[in-house]
Amino acid sequence: MTNYQIAVIPGDGIGPEVMNEAVKVLELLKKLDPSFQIEFDTFDWNSEYYLRNGKMMPDDALDTLKKYDAILFGAIGDKRVPDDVTVWELIMPIRKNFKQYINLRPVKLLKGVSSRYSGETIDFVIVRENAEGEYSNSGGRLYLGTEQEIAVQNTIITRTGTKKVARFAFEYAKKHDKRTVTSATKSNAIIHSMKLWDEVVNEVGMDYPAINLQSYYIDALAAYFVSRPEDFEVVVASNLFGDILSDLGSAVVGGLGLSPSANLNPEGDFPSMFEPVHGSAPDIAGKGIANPIAQIWSVALMLEHLGRRDLAAVILESIEQVIVQNEVQTPDLGGSSTTSEMGSAICDALQHLLLVREGRY
Ligand code: NAI
Ligand code: MG
Repeated sequence: MTNYQIAVIPGDGIGPEVMNEAVKVLELLKKLDPSFQIEFDTFDWNSEYYLRNGKMMPDDALDTLKKYDAILFGAIGDKRVPDDVTVWELIMPIRKNFKQYINLRPVKLLKGVSSRYSGETIDFVIVRENAEGEYSNSGGRLYLGTEQEIAVQNTIITRTGTKKVARFAFEYAKKHDKRTVTSATKSNAIIHSMKLWDEVVNEVGMDYPAINLQSYYIDALAAYFVSRPEDFEVVVASNLFGDILSDLGSAVVGGLGLSPSANLNPEGDFPSMFEPVHGSAPDIAGKGIANPIAQIWSVALMLEHLGRRDLAAVILESIEQVIVQNEVQTPDLGGSSTTSEMGSAICDALQHLLLVREGRY
């Protein structure tokens, strides 16, 4: 019997809407599979909390979160609070303090999704460096508001950080029988930090003679994502490059509503955090029409991380079944179903598959 303690942070906008559906899935699994026990505590740390308290989360939030096996996160962002506050006071402290230096983002074209790539097999992962790189708070501004104004934003690429992300990418490739790791670079123009990135990725690659390393400049790679996405297996990228590539990848396989992610602390010293790639989507928030699949798929990534690959697989199968049946589709997929109808349809499929698995159906 496994008993997991999960911290749930729904966040802002569509975050709580899609999180409701993710929790429905977890409740169902708990009910149907006696070997799977899960408890969750929900934290209301979001922009409302900020407007009431002047901070995104309490001072002891990280100590509180540290006790959990994993964190399930929705999305944040609210026009009443600057985006750099929501991001740097909530998501970044968790990612950085909990050494979640890997952001793993699957890019997979699910069966039944209508996309211009329908019929192709697109199934790769982006391994994004998640703790340093371009997303550092090192820098500053001088001579504010004058013609001489200067802004400096430092990119921090370290040998240790790059080694860890490259090692993770190659190990992932090895474990999943992939033949190629693709590195995103721009060392022709960014000659200090990206050269170090290239050198270290190459060095790590030498330890994996059976895996081919290909390195592309980020601009060309962006074009290849569109022109031949079926060619990729594992893509390793710095923080900013990985962030941009993952929205592009998600557009190729049907949109942000279908893209999950895992912020991993591979050593297990701290909880890892699972969240959709998308943000709070203020343009559709409150309408009950957001696609909950990215959030539910993030639950699957969380269960896989917690050692329940079987449950992760059955969640993904349920998602695919619902899409293939084409009866319940949210507007981003071309239908008119609600967030809750989509969540319930996935739960129905899940229940059916689990009962079949146990021979009870
Ligand atoms: P976004 O991802 O929220 O939305 C981009 C577009 O995708 C919108 O048209 C939206 O309606 C659509 N979309 C996103 N998720 C969807 C879903 N589940 N179903 C259907 N359509 C969906 O990105 P945007 O607009 O750049 O940012 C909005 C806010 O979210 C900002 O405040 C931003 O800072 C924040 N943000 C937060 C993130 C996080 O919490 N990790 C990540 C990205 C943005
Ligand atoms: Mg992003």
